[in-house]
Amino acid sequence: QAVTGALLLLAVLTPAGAASAAALPVVINTWAFRRAAETAWRVLESGGSELDAVESGCGQCEIDQCDGSVGYGGSPDESGETTLDAMIMDGNTMEVGAVADLRRVKNAIGVARKVIEYTKHTLLVGESASLFAVRMGFPYEDLTTQKSLSLYSEWLNQSCQPNFWKNVVPDSSKSCGPYKRREAVTYKEEQTSSQRSVHNHDTIGMVVIGVSGTVASGTSTNGAIHKLPGRVGDSPIAGAGSYADSTAGGAAATGDGDIMMRFLPSYQAVEYMRMGTDPTVACQKVISRIQKYAPKFFGAIICANTTGSYGAACNKIPGFTQFHFMVSSPLLNRPTEQVVDCI
Ligand SMILES: *[C@@H]1O[C@H](CO)[C@@H](O)[C@H](O)[C@H]1NC(C)=O
Ligand SMILES: *[C@@H]1O[C@H](CO)[C@@H](O)[C@H](O)[C@H]1NC(C)=O
Repeated sequence: QAVTGALLLLAVLTPAGAASAAALPVVINTWAFRRAAETAWRVLESGGSELDAVESGCGQCEIDQCDGSVGYGGSPDESGETTLDAMIMDGNTMEVGAVADLRRVKNAIGVARKVIEYTKHTLLVGESASLFAVRMGFPYEDLTTQKSLSLYSEWLNQSCQPNFWKNVVPDSSKSCGPYKRREAVTYKEEQTSSQRSVHNHDTIGMVVIGVSGTVASGTSTNGAIHKLPGRVGDSPIAGAGSYADSTAGGAAATGDGDIMMRFLPSYQAVEYMRMGTDPTVACQKVISRIQKYAPKFFGAIICANTTGSYGAACNKIPGFTQFHFMVSSPLLNRPTEQVVDCI
């Protein structure tokens, strides 16, 4: 039974390389988040804008709690709280709206869109972002669920492992905090291998390109599980989590944001495409750049150019050798899951 299932699954997956015929509009998003892809596609079909499609598509994942890594009730931080990061970008005007460390509001990408529409700012954070959300009419809700509570208590029970501290006492690889910095300055070499894996992967990232070549992009996530309160990852940062430029293309990244955000991978991918680089190659070049510094990082990126060609790439590590993503275009009669081999 299981074997048959696996064979069927393989049969319906289209190899990404073989399917790069181009048509517009195109919607691509990270991971096999099918309902997000369907929602975004439906919004475009019913005459919504590219930004509307990105907002509704990523918003669908916030409702569905995609993989537990988007929306409420997932990835509790060190104090057990779920906080959200999201961004949305308009590739025509280059406006960005983003929120980070958002608390007690579920629809993070909705709030990010309001940052574009009702402020002259780009990024709002923390409690103040929540106050802004309430002013914009979003309800205050508890983001904690039975699931996030049990993830938190399991983590406490296993001596707070894993966590994101280093060079502290007591030894953070063995015990819980509160930690203090070590007096002696014998820093351990920084581990560049990712704590995160395909099992707790994160982030919906989406790129939508309309019939006229208008590009929009967005992301939404609840961040790294057991993060330090206040930690903000790549997702809400323009050029890191995603980037959209209607004169070149769009890209969105997923994976270990603490490492990836240092390289502005989405910005870099769009710049490669601006120079005429094929989207798949642009994605691969971005991954190889990061590989030089962090060979074992967990991460992937999706890329699309303004004529509707698209591609993806990921860094091959044990347990993560293929990356699944969703594509919708007139050439595919419905949102289709595609897969790419990591490099
Ligand atoms: C903590 O973990 C141990 C096993 O490591 C288990 O026996 C115990 O029931 C757990 N306690 C709680 C409160 O989950
Ligand atoms: C998009 O990529 C395809 C495939 O590499 C290429 O043929 C096309 O010219 C690109 N479009 C633009 C606007 O660069």
